[in-house]
Amino acid sequence: MPSPSTKKDPYLPSKIYLYSSLFWLALGMIYGLILSLKFLWPNFLAFGPFQVFFQYGRIRPVHTNLVLFGWLTMANIGALFYVIPKLCRNQLSFEKIAAGTGIVWNIIVLAGTVALTMGFTTTTEYAEWPLWIDVLVILGMAAVALVCFATIATRKEKQLYVSLWYFMGSLIWLIGLYIIGNLPYKLLSGVPQFLIFWFYGHNVIGLWFTTVGVGLIYYLLPYLTRNPLYSHKLSLIGFWTIATFYVWNGPHHLQNGPIPLWLMKAGVIPSVLLIIPVWSVLANVFGTLKGKWHALSRNTPLKFLIVGAVFYLVTCLQGPFHSLQGPSSVIKFTDWVPGHAHLPLFGAFSFVAFSFMYVFLPKMLKTKLYSNKLMEWHFYLAVTGMFLFAFSTWSAGVLEGFAWIEGAQYGMQFVEMLISMRPFFAIRAVAGVAMLISSFVFIYNLAMTIIKANRNSQNEEISAG
Ligand code: HEM
Ligand code: HEM
Repeated sequence: MPSPSTKKDPYLPSKIYLYSSLFWLALGMIYGLILSLKFLWPNFLAFGPFQVFFQYGRIRPVHTNLVLFGWLTMANIGALFYVIPKLCRNQLSFEKIAAGTGIVWNIIVLAGTVALTMGFTTTTEYAEWPLWIDVLVILGMAAVALVCFATIATRKEKQLYVSLWYFMGSLIWLIGLYIIGNLPYKLLSGVPQFLIFWFYGHNVIGLWFTTVGVGLIYYLLPYLTRNPLYSHKLSLIGFWTIATFYVWNGPHHLQNGPIPLWLMKAGVIPSVLLIIPVWSVLANVFGTLKGKWHALSRNTPLKFLIVGAVFYLVTCLQGPFHSLQGPSSVIKFTDWVPGHAHLPLFGAFSFVAFSFMYVFLPKMLKTKLYSNKLMEWHFYLAVTGMFLFAFSTWSAGVLEGFAWIEGAQYGMQFVEMLISMRPFFAIRAVAGVAMLISSFVFIYNLAMTIIKANRNSQNEEISAG
């Protein structure tokens, strides 16, 4: 009989991604906090020979790329490598390739971070990494897609669960979008360049982070509530409507910008129609929870999931509203928009990833979570941080927007207005501290769980040997 240490670990690819995502989460959040402190003290970290590496223009894309492609993308792929074989009732195909892509993905995130820190950037938001790194991303994602599709193609389960629809769509969309968004900027210029880049910027968020997140909600919800999914039909309506309406939304990022008026208006229609897929998810969440609301009080992963789903709903009520020309003319270029961005990316889809890891990482390790108390602390700190972040940025955004309409966007008036925003910036920094501590609590709890599991398996080996 093979000893425990020589047995193949079917979860190795998933673990490589999930463990690495924790590291990038910590680093990305630290950069987020530094950014928010720079709003209070613009000269923060501006001393010594290394100050150039902490200039706002460099660390902002370092933050966004770390949290989006280091943390959330790696957490998502780690989850896909675990969930897809479970839904297909088979093993992950090409396990070695899957594990290899995990190492490549870490090299990509590290190289991207170093490049941006050194000042090498394409300047396109969420596509700032240099071209040679983009080529690696596309090859890496193609390999991830190959592993997932091969697993689905050889499945033993007859039914193609709705989560799989979302995952398959997301994998195809991400590769296509990434190629479009990272076309060398010399090939495009002017308004078409803007339009193409926002086609990418909007869709990478909606057809990767959102759709994988929703697919995971559909997997986790029946598992945590022990109720069947409320409506399979509704979930498919949600899938096809998001696939149909999302791609037309790019122009709403250029509302009141240098594009034709008809295009701005055309961007609003699909933004409002997105309520359909969003509501289909929420109706399914509330329907599935029927009779199980009491479980919320003692099940923290379920709390993360439901609060995440509600944050998703709030984002998607806010989104159509500020895509209208009137509201957009107030909130455009203000702090309102980063507030809108953090609610789904931290409040909704990071919460889904937290929920997934709390439930399934201990299962992969055949042990129990190190501390349920710490998990509770993580939840309350993260929710408090998110509320403070949203409150401070949305309030500041509205005040800034109206001040600029009154003419405060120039000269000394602009500086005075920025100074008067300091209390809001301070609240955002406090929010950042709460969010950062919450994430460190999460990482510590999972790290202790991993250490505990390793100790257990070493003890097993000793007693077996
Ligand atoms: C019905 C759903 C949604 C609509 C209609 C919508 C609409 C918008 C609009 C109009 C903007 C541009 C604001 C401006 O700069 O003037 C925006 C920005 C943004 N949205 Fe949404 N949104 C929705 C959902 C989401 C979701 C679910 C996510 C994340 C998963 C998200 C992430 C972002 C981000 C990151 C930005 C900032 C982009 C930038 O860097 O300028 N949105 N959204
Ligand atoms: C997983 C957690 C996080 C995610 C997914 C995330 C995501 C993002 C995104 C997408 C943006 C660009 C927003 C836009 O252009 O509208 C951004 C910017 C920013 N983030 Fe985060 N973030 C996270 C955590 C944090 C934390 C803990 C802080 C600390 C307060 C923070 C502070 C900031 C700041 C100050 C900006 C720049 C806003 C600006 O330039 O006006 N973020 N983040």
